[in-house]
Parts: sequence; C-alpha cells; structure tokens
Amino acid sequence: MLPTLDPRTLRNAFGCYTTGVVVVTTTGADGQKTGVTVNSFTSVSLDPPLVLFCLLNSANAYRTWEQATHFTMNILASGQQQVSNAFARPSSNPWEAIGHTTGDNGCPLIDGAAASLECERFQHFPGGDHLILVGRVTAVRIATGPMEPLAFHRGKYGTYWGVDFGAPPPDSSLSDMVMAGFG
Ligand SMILES: Cc1cc2nc3c(=O)[nH]c(=O)nc-3n(C[C@H](O)[C@H](O)[C@H](O)COP(=O)(O)O)c2cc1C
Repeated sequence: MLPTLDPRTLRNAFGCYTTGVVVVTTTGADGQKTGVTVNSFTSVSLDPPLVLFCLLNSANAYRTWEQATHFTMNILASGQQQVSNAFARPSSNPWEAIGHTTGDNGCPLIDGAAASLECERFQHFPGGDHLILVGRVTAVRIATGPMEPLAFHRGKYGTYWGVDFGAPPPDSSLSDMVMAGFG
C-alpha cells in the first residue's frame, strides 16, 4: 500500500514548479461572462493545436465550465496580479473593474494580457479532484513589444527577467516549439 502523502507537503512541492498565470474566460449561452485564474495551463499539442487547464471539482462555477463550448486562455503579463486576484476569489462582478473585449469565439479577451488563445472545447477528462479541460486553439493574439510575464512560484507572484542561461539542445522538442512559434 502506498504511504499517505501529507497534502501540505504535496502543495509545497507543486509550488516549486514556477508557472505563468492564466485567466480562462467563457461566455455562457445566456451571455453571462465567467473567468477563473489558473496556473495549471499547459500547451499540449501543435497538430492539432491543443492546450489544457485543470479545474477544481468543487469550484462554484464548475457546471459553467463543464458545459462551456468555447473558452479563452489569457496569459497574464507582469503587473496584472490584481487581474489574477479578481478571478481567484468570489466576486459579484469582476468584469466591471477589468478591461476586456470580446474575441471571435465570443469569450472575453483581457486587456493587457501577454497573449490570448481562443479555444473551442476539445475533450474533458476526470483528474482526481480536478477536471482536465482540453481546448483546440482557433485563434492566437500576442501582445506586441517587450512583455514580462506574471509568474507564480511558491505561493507568490513574481516575474521572469530573462536572465540568459543558454538555449536547450537544438534537437529538443522545446526548440521545435520555438521554431514553430510557440516559444
Ligand atoms: C495563482 C493562482 C493559480 C490558481 N490555479 C488554479 C487552477 O489551476 N485550477 C483551479 O481550479 N483553481 C486555481 N486557482 C484557484 C481559483 O482561481 C479559485 O479557487 C477560483 O477562482 C474560485 O472559483 P469559485 O469561486 O468558482 O469556486 C488558482 C488561484 C491562483 C491565485
């Protein structure tokens, strides 16, 4: 039998993996906008173009996400921690304070995001206490000019200053992604 892992220790270990911060947005059939802050964003596949995020099963808006036919991954830029916070806690209407427009898929695009990936629902999988939502990317918008990311590490926001430790080996899949424009 496997030993029981202490949840706090597990969370601390997960927190050592530095991520970006993404606000995933959707618009329901009734026109209601919903957003949730996640750091579980992952690029999955180039062909077809797939991304995923993981949603806590007990999220208040779980039903909305389970039924969402489209969603948009807004990758936040440095300085957007207030945007992250606005979609990480219950709020009557975060959209009043957060500048946004509407993308081709009908979902909100967050002003000032480093990049936004418009998606249509591709697949859902149960993942323990989370639901894994996979989206097929239908459009990409990337901010022009220099853009530091909003980073998340050990429970705190930060950024990445582009300190150059060299590129990975040229034949690695990461380099393939860079050449394909995903880097
Ligand atoms: C930096 C950061 C990353 C988060 N990542 C996730 C995540 O990947 N999945 C998730 O379900 N909740 C994540 N959360 C928590 C949700 O944002 C928060 O619980 C949610 O907005 C509450 O939704 P509810 O009011 O619908 O329950 C994260 C919060 C923060 C601040």
